Amino acid sequence: MIFSHLSPLLRLPVLASLTREGLLRMDPETAHGATISALRLGLAPEQDQADPPELKTTLAGLDLTNPVGMAAGFDKNAEVPRALARMGFGMVEIGTVTPLPQAGNPKPRLFRIAEAEGVINRMGFNNDGHDEVFRRLSETRVPAALGINIGANKESADFVADYARGVTRFAPLADYLTVNVSSPNTPGLRDLQHEEALTRLLAAVLEARGKAPVRVPVFLKIAPDLDETALDVIAKVIAATNLDGLIVSNTTLRRDTVAGMENADEKGGLSGKPLFDLSTRRLAQMRQRTSLPIIGVGGIHSPQTALAKFEAGANAIQLYSALVFGGLDLLDRIKRGLAAAVRAEGKRNIAELVGRKTDAWAADVVDI
Ligand SMILES: Cc1cc2nc3c(=O)[nH]c(=O)nc-3n(C[C@H](O)[C@H](O)[C@H](O)COP(=O)(O)O)c2cc1C
Repeated sequence: MIFSHLSPLLRLPVLASLTREGLLRMDPETAHGATISALRLGLAPEQDQADPPELKTTLAGLDLTNPVGMAAGFDKNAEVPRALARMGFGMVEIGTVTPLPQAGNPKPRLFRIAEAEGVINRMGFNNDGHDEVFRRLSETRVPAALGINIGANKESADFVADYARGVTRFAPLADYLTVNVSSPNTPGLRDLQHEEALTRLLAAVLEARGKAPVRVPVFLKIAPDLDETALDVIAKVIAATNLDGLIVSNTTLRRDTVAGMENADEKGGLSGKPLFDLSTRRLAQMRQRTSLPIIGVGGIHSPQTALAKFEAGANAIQLYSALVFGGLDLLDRIKRGLAAAVRAEGKRNIAELVGRKTDAWAADVVDI
């Protein structure tokens, strides 16, 4: 139960409903806002032990005390990166941030599929914009790797220029940058994954990175709704650049895993448990095509599913949706489970388990 160890504070009426059950009874966006407020007030549980040495990871030159990150979209406006780091995430990715502030799509735009522990969102990059997020981050020291996820304004006449501006603006503050071309909620954005557009985008982004005072690693975040031919194209394009890594994957437009369930027909991207198989298969298929670092995201909801991402080929992982259903103690369970799995295999570090089931995951023959 989230915040349950803070029982005296929970007597305050505003906080009384901030148990997992209470949050699940609220409208999803209200619940999210309440969680951010609670974290801002310093009510997050803090990690009280150092991470186990089995989880120490180097990712694109970044030293992580553990390879489990908060995925983009939870803290779009960099309101609580420090609280998230102190809870024990090895990396915290804020954003997506666009050059200008924008309101996003009309509400409601966030839905739970309780039956499948899935989430559908069509937020549409609601965020405070570069200036405000830059200001907030300039005043914050984050004791974890800080990722800044950048995007384009919906009404922008030049998507590529928006990304380049994001790189220039945030390179001095970020430990890594994520180029998000995979949100389904900004019309045309996913087209940037096509060969010609992606080539042009990465050239502009990496040129902007080259001019920054420090060399910040850049990751490209892709959609799971790409077939193997599209993955071939991405692999070919990135091989000709000095991109640092991939994030696989964003949310899916598919609904086969939730067909007939309440809210399943809402428009937007599906995440959580029903995304796990698809995103893990795409991760493995991408691992077959590149030796770059990959952050595996999508549907992680247990220590077993976290381990599966590494076995499929991830060097680090992120999660978001499962925290809605499982509560924040899931992070701790995942980290303990991963360290135990390393020891059970007679290994010393999680890196030794990376990719040992890539081919099976790519062929979709793993059952967990
Ligand atoms: C409400 C919500 C908002 C999101 N917003 C963003 C975003 O702004 N940028 C982005 O790259 N991914 C965004 N995502 C996608 C997540 O970062 C992640 O890739 C996806 O949810 C799969 O992971 P999960 O199943 O653990 O949630 C969002 C996801 C959710 C549920």
